[in-house]
Amino acid sequence: MVVPGNANSKHDELIVFLIRRKDALTSDRRVCMTTLTTTPLAQLLDRLFEEAEATSPATSPAVAGLSSEEQARLMRSKTDYRAFYGRLKDFPLAVSRETGTLLYMLARSCGARTIVEFGTSFAISTLHLAAALRDNGGGRLITSEFEPSKVARARDNLATGGLIDLVEIREGDALQTLRVDLPETIDLVLLDGAKALYPEILSLLESRLRSGAFIVADNADHSPDYLARVRSPAGGYMSTPFGEDVELSMRIG
Ligand SMILES: C[S@@+](CC[C@H](N)C(=O)[O-])C[C@H]1O[C@@H](n2cnc3c(N)ncnc32)[C@H](O)[C@@H]1O
Repeated sequence: MVVPGNANSKHDELIVFLIRRKDALTSDRRVCMTTLTTTPLAQLLDRLFEEAEATSPATSPAVAGLSSEEQARLMRSKTDYRAFYGRLKDFPLAVSRETGTLLYMLARSCGARTIVEFGTSFAISTLHLAAALRDNGGGRLITSEFEPSKVARARDNLATGGLIDLVEIREGDALQTLRVDLPETIDLVLLDGAKALYPEILSLLESRLRSGAFIVADNADHSPDYLARVRSPAGGYMSTPFGEDVELSMRIG
């Protein structure tokens, strides 16, 4: 029943309710901060991405002398990858900002506690993944890199970002370093080292992937064998290209 005398007060109550709700939403947004978007990590990542964007390996003497065919061959080689990445040791070769954000979101949404990364470089992707572990309540991230100077830079960046306690950097060829002492189950994998090795690295980790584990493979178009495997209906994965650079796969069963 509508009582005409009460109409204004109902209207006022509604306005007060809406103002309070807006205040609550605004303050919720203020308190919904993440490790990724707060000090010190947010500033560190801004600086690292700016530096990465300012340096292009394509124009550097390190690879400028190579024909595009030779570069493509090296990108796909299962034997010459060490020399190729040695030429690129001063470059971050990082995932894009979008892929970094995707890594953080995937690791958060699956509640990841155990993550393995192939290809650390300066640790830009590692920082995103470790931030998700921190916000999930902790965990273990094993990452692998064979260039000693990159390992040192990665360690510095992880210390500056306040995340070094969550990360174990294994120095050496991942074909060896990811062969031993892995977590019982793995929640998420990032493949971002030598593209030709994606199938071999997946084989090292596969038996430990939990059902529903995500595998993010950057620039997997350089690894046709890998794509064929994760896209095969009998392969035990659900898989789709995602954005410009990523093949996103999920372990089934
Ligand atoms: C594309 S970069 C990784 C970028 C890094 N994920 C990021 O987003 O910041 C690839 C790195 O993997 C390293 N790498 C390539 N093959 C490797 C292997 N077999 N074992 C260990 N490290 C490897 C290279 O030295 C290089 O630093």
